[in-house]
Amino acid sequence: MLKRLTRTLGAALLAASLLMPTAGEYVIDVYAIMADGIYLYEPRDHKLVLINDGDHRELASKKPGFPRTAPLNLVYVAYTGDMKKSPHASDATKQARYLGVAAGTMAQSVALVLEAEGLGGCVRGSVDGEQFRLAAELNDDQEIILAQTIGAIK
Ligand SMILES: Cc1cc2nc3c(=O)[nH]c(=O)nc-3n(C[C@H](O)[C@H](O)[C@H](O)COP(=O)(O)O)c2cc1C
Repeated sequence: MLKRLTRTLGAALLAASLLMPTAGEYVIDVYAIMADGIYLYEPRDHKLVLINDGDHRELASKKPGFPRTAPLNLVYVAYTGDMKKSPHASDATKQARYLGVAAGTMAQSVALVLEAEGLGGCVRGSVDGEQFRLAAELNDDQEIILAQTIGAIK
């Protein structure tokens, strides 16, 4: 399971970042919450960078349940700093829609990799945002958009 998950994680993160649609105004970063730490995916080097070690899986959801025991949760986090300078800056609804489209497309790319590997995934809006922000060291220009729990199909 661990080997399959590791292989899947690499392919999934690559797919998510390569296929990320962008209107040139934002970047969606992908954080991985695993039993040994919270990592940030660096697409340029195809590397996971440790942000905070230890098991923080309880932050993957607001309520107890499968996200807290799953081996992997991805959290899609938008960097919105550049959006403030964009031509759409005055249209917050449109900007929010664009971020949803981008993160949703990334999660769908990951879902296709999961399907090919025989693993399961669940897109979720419920993340313990406040605590995750602290643990992942997010700044004011970063906004949590979506989470995705990944694991074996039971
Ligand atoms: C934007 C979005 C947010 C969601 N948030 C949650 C969530 O927080 N928790 C949850 O259990 N399911 C959430 N879901 C639903 C699951 O992703 C999934 O669609 C649902 O569990 C049905 O899965 P199934 O089609 O495999 O039965 C969300 C779905 C979407 C599209």
